[in-house]
Amino acid sequence: MKGVVLAGGLGSRLKPLTKVTNKHLLPVYDQPMIYYPIKTLINAGIDDIMIVTGGNSAGDFLKLLGNGKDFGLKHVNYTYQEGEGGIADALSLVEHFADDEPVCVVLGDNIIENNIRAAADDYRKQGGGAKILLKKVHDPQRFGVPELEGDRVLRIEEKPSEPKSDFAVIGIYFYDNTVFDIIKTLKPSDRGELEITDVNNHYIDRNEMTWAELDGWWTDAGTFESLLHATNLVAKSGANKV
Ligand code: DAU
Repeated sequence: MKGVVLAGGLGSRLKPLTKVTNKHLLPVYDQPMIYYPIKTLINAGIDDIMIVTGGNSAGDFLKLLGNGKDFGLKHVNYTYQEGEGGIADALSLVEHFADDEPVCVVLGDNIIENNIRAAADDYRKQGGGAKILLKKVHDPQRFGVPELEGDRVLRIEEKPSEPKSDFAVIGIYFYDNTVFDIIKTLKPSDRGELEITDVNNHYIDRNEMTWAELDGWWTDAGTFESLLHATNLVAKSGANKV
């Protein structure tokens, strides 16, 4: 399985912090934000990694990460997303890198306390389709929210005003190679983006979606409140525990 960190987009919700630099280069406690999703992949046994960057300071990723020596990697792959076409648009850029393999996709602003090894192992055994991870939150309106029936996901709604559960779909996804065909069928949402939630709903329609609940804390870091929250969580208890 190959790994993808999505670090494109313009980080508009963090302006002026992101006026000259990329959101994923900002500090979260003692490390640049992008370190955390990279470690999430490595801790799951995934070491063939592509970073999709975009917007400002794309060259600084190369300066910061090089060939991944600080993470014990021999090589890191990079690509560049023009504009802010959405998470699924950024993912479409890794089709040639994925080749015929499944991918584990981590959003560049998602940070976890523990690791996703069990979910990655379960997905490898699943042998196709997709898998998402869920976490209970107090503010589901900010996220993709699943409607659940037992162990089935019936539907996911993106930022619903009346959420059908108090779970968020976190920004760590497992997909087989058909994800790239699905993305080619998508139309931009009201916010002008190709939505990862639409990708997930395709897998749900095909009855090829599984889910698991993540243990330990999880947060995004894309707003002032969540960036502060992420910094405090990492300072208090550390992240990416093996
Ligand atoms: O954090 C989890 C949530 O992430 C999910 O619950 C939502 O379903 C999902 O849509 C997403 O929501 P956000 O609106 O918070 O995503 P945001 O626009 O902040 O983008 C998250 C990361 O995705 C960002 O740090 C980099 C990457 N990204 C985003 C966009 C819009 C790209 O690489 N390219 C893009 O064009």
